[in-house]
Amino acid sequence: MMTEGRSCPLAYRYRPGDLCAEPEVVNADVLYVIGGLYGNPYALDEIERMAAEEKHQGRSVTLVFNGDFNWFNASDQLFRELNERVLKHTVSLGNVEYELANPNDGAGCGCAYPRFVDQGIVERSNAIMERLQGVAAGHPDIQDRLNALPRYRCLLFGGLKILILHGDPESMAGWGLAYEAFTNGNELQLNDWFGRSGADVIACTHTCLPLLWSGEVDGCRRLVANNGSAGMGNLKSDARGLITRIALDNESGQSLAGLRGNGVSVSLRPVGFETEAWLAEFDRLWPPGSAAAESYRNRLVSGTLIDVGHFVFAGCN
Ligand SMILES: [Fe+2]
Repeated sequence: MMTEGRSCPLAYRYRPGDLCAEPEVVNADVLYVIGGLYGNPYALDEIERMAAEEKHQGRSVTLVFNGDFNWFNASDQLFRELNERVLKHTVSLGNVEYELANPNDGAGCGCAYPRFVDQGIVERSNAIMERLQGVAAGHPDIQDRLNALPRYRCLLFGGLKILILHGDPESMAGWGLAYEAFTNGNELQLNDWFGRSGADVIACTHTCLPLLWSGEVDGCRRLVANNGSAGMGNLKSDARGLITRIALDNESGQSLAGLRGNGVSVSLRPVGFETEAWLAEFDRLWPPGSAAAESYRNRLVSGTLIDVGHFVFAGCN
């Protein structure tokens, strides 16, 4: 079906006004928002090491996974291990997890790819999803746990509403907070979403390129952070993943870029995982010519075309 991977399933949709209706209090000094781990256990090792280092320095860290932690982990052992590790933390759904837990609705990968994404990429993503669904079918207990996850979470942190979601404030697979949307200009849409949700900060992922945005809505500073991918390279000639770090402190030495507003700092922090070890495992799972190798291997080695500093959309007001 041509629509597989392009459409946005009805089950993904929600209303901006509902997103922060029931905030959950989080008692921590730091939040790591980890989107798009894409089945990379070495990135998870490194993120756990980073959190342990913060703890050693006296700061407690809550790990929040906002979806697509599965993707390349197409073996029984890796699928189970990775999900069991992630599901110990604070977690919300991505389209990948939704399609693994509900494999029969004809959505393909559920990515809701816009028209500027090449049809070959869409078809290969559908093929990756089909293979991963075959693995997931052997782990019904994990499928049940994924199925029970919320589509978004609003965390009350430092007195602020931190809205954690996968795509955008209208759909779990929406592209309204993608890098491309910010380069085209989406100020009116942002004003509307912040106004209706009441969020102070939105942390998202899904669209695979990083960005930070800061602006004023209704007299208050608001922030958006899209971490791109925690498990793949995000920037030019850089194989490191990125996570969003949200903290009450002003410690930004290890981050690539950050913004501050309303008493929190929001920054993008590199995840320098063991690239060679992950590539060796990736090549075993997805040999040359396979869908994932065709779509992603170059990015795993070389990152994207975005330069450091070109992903900050700040001072808009
Ligand atoms: Fe996604």
